[in-house]
Amino acid sequence: MSALPAAVAIPAEPVISVRGLVKNYGSFQALQGIDLDIHEGEVVAIIGPSGSGKSTLVRCLHQLEPIDGGAMYLDGRLLGFRRDGRHLRALGAAAVAEQRRQLGMVFQQFVLFPHMTVEQNVMEGPMQVLRDREADARARAHHLLQRVGLAHKAHAYPALLSGGQQQRVAIARALAMRPRVLLLDEPTSALDPELVGEVLNVVTDLARAGKTMIVVTHEIGFAREAASRVVFMEAGRIVEQGTARSTLAQPRTERLRAFLSRVV
Ligand SMILES: Nc1ncnc2c1ncn2[C@@H]1O[C@H](COP(=O)(O)OP(=O)(O)OP(=O)(O)O)[C@@H](O)[C@H]1O
Ligand SMILES: [Mg+2]
Repeated sequence: MSALPAAVAIPAEPVISVRGLVKNYGSFQALQGIDLDIHEGEVVAIIGPSGSGKSTLVRCLHQLEPIDGGAMYLDGRLLGFRRDGRHLRALGAAAVAEQRRQLGMVFQQFVLFPHMTVEQNVMEGPMQVLRDREADARARAHHLLQRVGLAHKAHAYPALLSGGQQQRVAIARALAMRPRVLLLDEPTSALDPELVGEVLNVVTDLARAGKTMIVVTHEIGFAREAASRVVFMEAGRIVEQGTARSTLAQPRTERLRAFLSRVV
């Protein structure tokens, strides 16, 4: 067997692989066979019209929805199932929770624990789930709060924060669990317009730092700046994808062109 020339880079295994993913709600097919690979350090922006299946896709990845066909892999390991000979068996709750922890999720509606301070919100998961020591969890929480520009709010309660600040805490809290990948589903769409920028800046900083992310967004300017790749969905399928800049500047399909002319 001859060796490969040294200049040939061997592509790394994708962090996330989706193959033929199907999701039905009753007789309605919300995802009609999605294939998607996401590599370490990639930031994938998912765009598309309302109802195209963007949230459904990230909810399936986070195992919040049972799937009806296909498969999803994290670092080459099946999500939600294990192989048993020729059969797939559903994983138990503990194994699902462990997989879910590796895919941090930030929702449209910021959901912080109201009875805990900002710092406690960020420390809770690492202490309860990862069994981190309190001093370590606190030190890490402060580091993450600094990263999202909220170290000075560590001892405030969520109700006293703006929506943008709460969403930044939610991002810090998701990162505190040390996820392989961060999934964000329209993290700014519940915010007043003047608060959108501060949250997108945090996500852009994370992108520049090389965090692997999937971001569902309607913010096309943000997708152009922060994403390495754009995936355009329509009616439960991926219609077009490619590097963010070229795909958004020169869409190949008429459908993406029409979508962009409506939203930009
Ligand atoms: N729990 C559910 N039961 C039935 N149908 C659902 C359910 N959740 C989503 N759907 C349907 O599946 C389709 C995809 O929904 P999804 O929420 O993934 O769209 P989306 O692309 O995230 O849209 P938006 O931009 O409005 O958030 C829609 O037609 C929606 O009505
Ligand atoms: Mg959605």
